[in-house]
Amino acid sequence: MIGRPNSFPVSITGLGTYTPDRILTNDELSELVDTSDEWIMERTGIKERRIAAPEQAMTDLALPAARLALERAGTRPEEIDLIIVATVTPDMMFPTTGSLLGDLLPAPQAAAYDLLAGCTGFVYALAQGHAMVAAGLSKKALVVGGDVLSKILDWTDRSTLVLFGDGAGAVVLERVDEGGFLGFELGADGGGGQHLWLPGSGSRTFEDADRLVKMNGREVFKFATRVMVSSAEALLEETGRTIEDVDVYVPHQANTRIIDYATKKLGIPDDRVIVNVDRYGNTSSGSIPLALADAESEGRLTPGSTVLMTGMGAGLTWGSALMEWTANGRAK
Ligand code: ACO
Repeated sequence: MIGRPNSFPVSITGLGTYTPDRILTNDELSELVDTSDEWIMERTGIKERRIAAPEQAMTDLALPAARLALERAGTRPEEIDLIIVATVTPDMMFPTTGSLLGDLLPAPQAAAYDLLAGCTGFVYALAQGHAMVAAGLSKKALVVGGDVLSKILDWTDRSTLVLFGDGAGAVVLERVDEGGFLGFELGADGGGGQHLWLPGSGSRTFEDADRLVKMNGREVFKFATRVMVSSAEALLEETGRTIEDVDVYVPHQANTRIIDYATKKLGIPDDRVIVNVDRYGNTSSGSIPLALADAESEGRLTPGSTVLMTGMGAGLTWGSALMEWTANGRAK
């Protein structure tokens, strides 16, 4: 799916994030499984990641991120009429994390649900929230992306354990005067689904289901390097932009090798790329909003700057969003 909105401009008016306090280093991981800081740094660029406390679930990460996003948007929770939570680690299948979050905020007027699109979830949720606001169905939407992957990892499997971390981000979407989202490109290939999956987590019966993440790293790597480039190029063409127009590139933070490959192939100068995978690992749906927040705190998201985000993950799925950053509803 690819397209340019042809309606009212819609943008992010507030951004908030939350990561658990506990920092887990590569050296600590090497005491649990046969790995080393050197191997992890060389293959992934990850130095450390955040890990949720035993009692923390997705809602506990989403709530502080959402409150911060609302505060930054100058919005009261009661004004939110739509909540979409992109996650593969909801507190439970139902009630949804969106529903629970709506109760806690509280946002009693909000329609609320969860969205499953692997690590691409946040970009998919942005597109949905955008469409609802642009169509006039929602006036103020809260879109949350995040995961508590530490709860579904196999803590004896070094090939997946070292890659992931926990974290969440949230944005408020509203109509603005100008700027905002310029287009989206979203895709899915279920044929490659079993390269990154959670067998036994739904209605399909598996003989040896253990409900922990399984991944074919090499296949996911090949897929990732392909779609990170093709999705961005397709969206730039669709929106009549070129790579030179991109001021800030926010790729999914899976690992630095994938990011470096995409950056070089696309021809984006390194100083326009946001990288924080070294500190957080791959936080799945939390990855893009966490990176956006870093860009914002470094003063790199100025009104009018063109921001390209591309995610990819389980499904297999991918998605890009292109936007003109706004402040107080204005692009410049
Ligand atoms: N420490 C030490 N050795 C390890 C580790 C580890 N943590 N993990 C694997 N190895 C070993 C393997 O067992 C293998 O050993 P062998 O040759 O004796 O069999 C060797 O290292 C090489 O393994 P490869 O899988 O070939 O290593 P590769 O260079 O491909 O790197 C990695 C592995 C980092 C997983 C890479 O394939 C990758 O980045 N893939 C993409 C993964 C990804 O980004 N997934 C998430 C994206 S989607 C989402 O966000 C949910």
